[in-house]
Amino acid sequence: MRSQIKTALGVIVSKKFGLKNVPSFSVEAPENAEHGDYATNLALILAKILKKKPMDIARAVDMELEAWSLKHGIKTEIAPPGFINFFLDNKNLGAALKEILKKKERFGRGAKKKETIIIEYSSPNIAKPMGVHHLRTTIIGQALVNIHSFLGYKVLAMSFPGDWGTQFGSLIAAYKKWGDAKKIKKNPIKEMLNLYVRFSHLAEGDETLQEEAQKEFKKLEQGHKENRKIWTWFRKESFKDFDKVYKKLGVKIPLVFAESFFEPYLKKVIADAVNKKIAERGQDSSLVVKFPDGTPPLLLQKSDGATLYATRDLAQMKYRVQKWHPAKILIVVANQQTLYFDQIFKTAAMLGYTKKENLVHVKFGMVLDSTGKKFATREGKLIPLADVLDEAVRRARKIVDQLNPNLPQKAKPRTATRSASSAGEKNKIAEVVGIGGLKFFDMSQNRLSDIVFDWNKMLNLKGASAPYVQYAYARLKSVLRKAKIKSSVGPIDLDLLKEKQEQALWRHLVHFTETIEDAAARYEPSRLAEYLLKLAEKINYFYETVPILSAEKEIKKTRLALVEAAAIIIKSGLNLLGIEVPERM
Ligand code: ARG
Repeated sequence: MRSQIKTALGVIVSKKFGLKNVPSFSVEAPENAEHGDYATNLALILAKILKKKPMDIARAVDMELEAWSLKHGIKTEIAPPGFINFFLDNKNLGAALKEILKKKERFGRGAKKKETIIIEYSSPNIAKPMGVHHLRTTIIGQALVNIHSFLGYKVLAMSFPGDWGTQFGSLIAAYKKWGDAKKIKKNPIKEMLNLYVRFSHLAEGDETLQEEAQKEFKKLEQGHKENRKIWTWFRKESFKDFDKVYKKLGVKIPLVFAESFFEPYLKKVIADAVNKKIAERGQDSSLVVKFPDGTPPLLLQKSDGATLYATRDLAQMKYRVQKWHPAKILIVVANQQTLYFDQIFKTAAMLGYTKKENLVHVKFGMVLDSTGKKFATREGKLIPLADVLDEAVRRARKIVDQLNPNLPQKAKPRTATRSASSAGEKNKIAEVVGIGGLKFFDMSQNRLSDIVFDWNKMLNLKGASAPYVQYAYARLKSVLRKAKIKSSVGPIDLDLLKEKQEQALWRHLVHFTETIEDAAARYEPSRLAEYLLKLAEKINYFYETVPILSAEKEIKKTRLALVEAAAIIIKSGLNLLGIEVPERM
């Protein structure tokens, strides 16, 4: 509905005031429901341009709007200092509700769009465990993939793992010195990390070791058999490890183009930079990009000819543009790399690979512990993500036990979401709640802020958490099970529902679609998370204060329709965030 209102307003004011270009204005759902289902600041904006009183403009626009509003079941009103408020009537809302019930999880889906959007996320580095900072990119990235696909974009979900660079020279050198194949086979990631850490400590003040590492990498680059073999093995073990984490997270990244893939394309990037006179050779023959606007220079090639992360990133950019012609490339990476992406995007534009506007660094804040330090072990080491995920499930298990001690421990079917009869699996519910809790905790906060890791908040049934939203869903499903209705797209007479609780609930449902659009436009899944929290609040208020199953027959029918619609939207919304719902809790 919001987009229809927006379009209608645009048409009306451009005619009425003879405007070629209508300035940008907003149509939003006001915080306070008394101000309507939507409100626009259009008159306030036009007033400045046309140098007239905002209330006069609001009145004029409102008058022009009359025929349109009548036709669409909308009442309007103007409010100082110049807002126009829109109230959807019951017929309009009833139609929306019906559409939800009919389309179910397809409600809100956008029509297929021509644009391709590349979303690059997760991108862990091999020979290391995935850490909590990779948690954020992975789940925010996946949510953005889901959201954009839902809206109809052609989405290419991909990762760009770090599997190339001089650090692998160190690792190979370390392996040749101290490596124990058996030990590594048993515990690959941990052993690789140990080798690497041991070597880099020693190499810190030791030029011979540094040279050794450089040599080993050079050999790797030139296709040296043994080095290739070691690297390929380490890489394979790492990818196996990533997949374990992805599986726990329910994440799938179909396109993996690691840094090493771009090795054959690096020469051309360097040539492009030299030919276009974007980069300059230093006296030591290293190659540096200089920016006219004072951005710090970017190293493309070291004096020994070695390339860098940046070189591979530019090659990747060129490859993506030439192969897929994306309208946009989103790269979901922590805000520590802000300057770096500024340099990369500017360089890619100077090289003519793509326009800077098409490249977006979707950045996010750090994960901190309760003392405000970077989330890590007591010794300051990285906490493997897999451990955090297991802990989440363990803790969620306690909640499930508490809520529902009588659920069977285990059941045969694998998922609890498929049908009520398979819902008995406590472990599965604990997974859904634990992993969901972790994801929601992250995505319910503005992605730019640092987040303070807090198990209690994450799994607080009464707080702003996934379990809170999931529990609201489970309650609705329990009502529907008790009512024994299958599907209920019967007549919906909203005139029967007069309680403010039910009004608040169905009015909120209507805002689902535009919430998804906003989440996509701002690359901000928290928009959707916030919406779902409010929805859960409204559901609980309704559930706890309005009789449903014991209501009079016609009212009961309509209330059940509302229950069903709310359940559809909660499930759909959580799924877009990559979070599952339990049929009971
Ligand atoms: N592997 C990098 C890291 O873990 C992230 C890669 C981000 N993507 C990119 N196109 N540079 O820090």
